Amino acid sequence: MERLNNKIGLITGAASGIGLATCELLLQNGATIIMSDLSNSAGRQKADQFGTRASFETLDVTSEKDWIDISNKIEKKYSGLDFIINNAGVGTPGSIEDTTLEQWRQIHAVNSEGPFLGCKYGIELIKQNGRGGSIVNISSVAGIIGAPNLAAYCSSKASVRLLTKSVALHCARKGYGIRCNSVHPSYTDTPMVDEIVSAHRNPMQYKIALEAASPMGRLGTPLDIAGAVVYLVSDEAKFVNGTEIVVDGGLTAT
Ligand SMILES: NC(=O)c1ccc[n+]([C@@H]2O[C@H](COP(=O)([O-])OP(=O)(O)OC[C@H]3O[C@@H](n4cnc5c(N)ncnc54)[C@H](O)[C@@H]3O)[C@@H](O)[C@H]2O)c1
Repeated sequence: MERLNNKIGLITGAASGIGLATCELLLQNGATIIMSDLSNSAGRQKADQFGTRASFETLDVTSEKDWIDISNKIEKKYSGLDFIINNAGVGTPGSIEDTTLEQWRQIHAVNSEGPFLGCKYGIELIKQNGRGGSIVNISSVAGIIGAPNLAAYCSSKASVRLLTKSVALHCARKGYGIRCNSVHPSYTDTPMVDEIVSAHRNPMQYKIALEAASPMGRLGTPLDIAGAVVYLVSDEAKFVNGTEIVVDGGLTAT
C-alpha cells in the first residue's frame, strides 16, 4: 500500500482498457488519481466507485484548451502532480495505401500530439510540487517494429518513443528531477483490440492468429501493462529515465 502513498497523478484515456487497469493498480498501491477521458459517463462512474482517492475530469488530449483547463484545476486543488500517464490512444488500422490524409491526421492528433501536450503541460504541473516526478508515455511495439496494416499507428507510436527520450534529456539537463519513459505493449486484450478483431472478415481466426504470433501464446492483459506503468511511477524506478519498457511476451525478441 505504501508504494505510491502521497503521490498524485493524472492519467489520460482512463475510462477503458489499459488506462482503467492502471488506475486500479495505482489505487491499490496508495496513489491519488485524477482519471481523465473524453466526455463519458463510464469514466466518471468508475471514479465514483473507486472512492475518495479517485476523481474524474473530461479531457480530450488533442485539445490544448482542455489541457489548460485541467492544469488550472489541478494547480488550484492539488498544487501540482507527481506523475502523468499519457495513455489515451486510438488504434485505427490501415496500410499506407488505405489510409486517407484525414485518418493520418486524426491518429497523429490523438497518439502523437496528445502525448506532446501531455508532456508539455505535465512538466509544468510536476514542477509545481517541487519534488520532481515521473511521466509515462504509452507507446506500442508498433513504435519499434513495423506492421503493414498500421501505417499511421506505427508512425504515431514511433514518435512517442523519441519524444519520450527528448523530454527525459531536457528535464535532466534542466535539473527538474522529472523522469520520462515509454511503455510498449504488444496486442493486449482491451476494447481497442476487440474492435480491431471484430472488424476482421474472420474475427475468431484473426484472434487465434494474434495469440499464436506471441511467443507466449496469448495476448497481454491490461494488468500486465499496468504493472510496468506503476513501476515507472514509483521511486523504485528513480534512476530509470529516457528508456522504454517493452511488455510483449517476447514478441520483439523474435
Ligand atoms: N490494446 C493493445 O493491444 C495496445 C497495444 C499497444 C499499445 N496500446 C496503447 O495503449 C493505450 C490504451 O489502449 P487500450 O487498448 O486500453 O484502448 P481502449 O480503446 O480500451 O482505451 C483507450 C481510451 O482512450 C480514450 N481516448 C481516445 N481518444 C481520446 C482523446 N482524444 N482524448 C482522451 N481520451 C481519448 C478512449 O475514450 C478510451 O477510454 C493506447 O495508447 C494504445 O495505443 C494498446
